[in-house]
Amino acid sequence: MAAPVQRDQELELTIDSLAFGGNGVGRLDGFVVFARGGLPGDTVRARVTKVQRRHAEARVTDVLVSGPQRVDAPCAHYPACGGCRFQDLAYDAQVAAKEQWVADSLQRLAGLTAPPLEPIVPAASQFGYRNKMEYSFAQHDDGPTLGLHRAGRWDEVLQIDKCWLTTDLGNAIRNRMREWAREEKLQAYDQETHEGYLRHLVVREGRNTGQALVQLVTARGERFDRERLIEVLTEFPEVRSIHWSVNSGVAEVTNLPTELVWGEDAIEEEIGGLRFRVRPNAFLQTNTEMAEQLYGIAREFAGLQGGETVYDLYCGIGTIGLSMAAKALTVWGIEISEESVACAIENQELNAIGNTAFFAGNVGEVLSDLRTRAGDPDVVVVDPPRAGLAGKALKRLGEIGAPRVVYVSCNPTTLAGDVKRLGDVYGYELTRARPVDMFPHTPHVECVALLEHA
Ligand SMILES: C[S@@+](CC[C@H](N)C(=O)[O-])C[C@H]1O[C@@H](n2cnc3c(N)ncnc32)[C@H](O)[C@@H]1O
Repeated sequence: MAAPVQRDQELELTIDSLAFGGNGVGRLDGFVVFARGGLPGDTVRARVTKVQRRHAEARVTDVLVSGPQRVDAPCAHYPACGGCRFQDLAYDAQVAAKEQWVADSLQRLAGLTAPPLEPIVPAASQFGYRNKMEYSFAQHDDGPTLGLHRAGRWDEVLQIDKCWLTTDLGNAIRNRMREWAREEKLQAYDQETHEGYLRHLVVREGRNTGQALVQLVTARGERFDRERLIEVLTEFPEVRSIHWSVNSGVAEVTNLPTELVWGEDAIEEEIGGLRFRVRPNAFLQTNTEMAEQLYGIAREFAGLQGGETVYDLYCGIGTIGLSMAAKALTVWGIEISEESVACAIENQELNAIGNTAFFAGNVGEVLSDLRTRAGDPDVVVVDPPRAGLAGKALKRLGEIGAPRVVYVSCNPTTLAGDVKRLGDVYGYELTRARPVDMFPHTPHVECVALLEHA
């Protein structure tokens, strides 16, 4: 059957649900149209942007009738800003949609007719929950500005005066840095011409310690007055650490080597009663408050009694492993980022924990060595990036065959694919799964899953 719509065609649609990733789902005689900006219950006018054999994509141009869950977004930058997708969807409906996405993934991709899903844990704070923000500089007619990318645009930066996902301190530091850039008459870097200087600003906050770290990313050359930058940033007593990175490439990245300009080289965060040192490039869950809950669920699923050997794979700065150490015999962490491993080792000392060890390496490559060194694990915790367990890592994990695998996932589709393979090939059964909302107003959802040998 030919698609019943064409590109650029204007449609009137009723939206009946939210698809994974956040687009509204409408139907034209059964043909599915994913409408960006459509919320359940809305009747919308939408323009078709892409047509495929089985579905089309469209962008909502007008909401003709609002659905019952549509609310007023509090942020003045919404919906132009790409930071939030759902400020106009009631929070209850956001978490219900996320829970459904996890259920759908486990049903469709893991082939489980009745996945053992427990109710989603909603976020404790719907706004102001982030401990890290990355802003981009851009040159406007009246000087450099600092903000976030426009929704759907990699090449356009929207000036942000108040972001609802960060704190008053985070907003104040960003706005002060914009003024600084203007006072110093610095030019923002232009992604098309590759001219200009200022590229990004990263602000990290220890939300439970009140400490802040600022990383400035520029193009090549030292074109700013260090003393003035330090003066401006130390107007904020919370700022403990100022770093500078040079990005001489074209890619818009911030995970670059840094030079310490002023202060401590790391800040500290407190999670679940433990202190963690955080360097500019080290991974830390961006919602401190919900990280405590996520780790609590991981501990519950691990079911430690005190005598277990635990592997903490993709361990970052050691947060999960260190939070389990008191209930385990030994904990062994693997992490690819050397900067994160350095933090993990410092963190075990900072917390006077003596039964943990952390190693730098690629999980797929070093897991067999770890087994030789540490012995067979009773519990393996994995917390991989969005792509899930790479082929080799999954194979090694399956071969080790630990009685319990606690899988902390930030992507339900790769979680479901990995659950299926761990089941089909290595005999694991998914026995518990609990989604956690760490990122209100965005389509992201975390999930902790427990796999056991059948
Ligand atoms: C989602 S984070 C989890 C970190 C930590 N468990 C936490 O909760 O803070 C994933 C981590 O995996 C690391 N990583 C990515 N690929 C890896 C690989 N192939 N081997 C080991 N670590 C990897 C990343 O550097 C990152 O720190």
